[in-house]
Amino acid sequence: MNKDSAFFSYAESVNNLSYALFYIGAFFSVLVMGLLVFFCIKYRIKHEGQRGDGPKGHIGLEIFWSVVPFIILVFIFVWGAKLFMDFYTERSPDYRVTVLGKQWMWKSFHSNGKREIDSLHVPLGKVTEITLISQDVIHSFFIPKLRFKQDVMPGKYVKIFVHPTQEGRFPILCAEYCGTDHSRMRGELVVHSPESHTNWLNRPEDAPIELLQASGRRLFQKMDCASCHQSNTNAIAPVLKGLWQAQRELDDGRNIKVDENYLRQSILNPNADIHKGYPAIMPTYKGQVSEEEIISLVEYLKTL
Ligand code: CUA
Repeated sequence: MNKDSAFFSYAESVNNLSYALFYIGAFFSVLVMGLLVFFCIKYRIKHEGQRGDGPKGHIGLEIFWSVVPFIILVFIFVWGAKLFMDFYTERSPDYRVTVLGKQWMWKSFHSNGKREIDSLHVPLGKVTEITLISQDVIHSFFIPKLRFKQDVMPGKYVKIFVHPTQEGRFPILCAEYCGTDHSRMRGELVVHSPESHTNWLNRPEDAPIELLQASGRRLFQKMDCASCHQSNTNAIAPVLKGLWQAQRELDDGRNIKVDENYLRQSILNPNADIHKGYPAIMPTYKGQVSEEEIISLVEYLKTL
């Protein structure tokens, strides 16, 4: 395929599927229209008073033109479904970043504390995990070059993985109508070589920046979370040490793995998933912490 599409192996697969759909469609359009014209000429009325006396039906032919399209459609379905699953398969990332969508901008949070608005810098040739969330309405994170759109919902983190294989700057758009300035909610994906990405992250002119987890820790102390979540066993609230990615048993018998969505939920709606053996006494922090603050809090909780 064209070299543009080599940007990202997933983009190339999507291109291949689109081309296949186009060529299959073109083949059958030409075939059907061609036969139509051919039969119109071949079986036209040759003299006045001619009556049709063609075949009344043909079981073999009927089966043939039902089964063949069926097989082709199943093939396309399997192909598309496989691409869909590939896209959402978790991969072990080399780099992680969180992107917050809001009316009307894309804000990126790098773990070294660097933040950007309407741009996202990622390293070339590495798998970057992008965690997306919205702070207001539904947006859609659309990078045409990568051939994907991802809905960005309020209240839920979604992860996608990109693996750029070409340096450069590529548009990011919002593909879900989200209000007045929807059409201006655009940004830029900037793909650097890994060295220049590291340099960019540590540009001296941007100093001093605070690690994302350090902002989270400051918040954790400010809100006095530790007064309940002490690290001794007499604590009235679950011990937070080592909780990231741990299996937790809940009050209602469910077993969950601690991830970003669980942590966020436990801050905003603590009674939804109660840790087994603890009373449901935690107050909600809804309205007291912003979506941005939760991003740094979660980053801190991961390090405990
Ligand atoms: Cu955000 Cu449209």
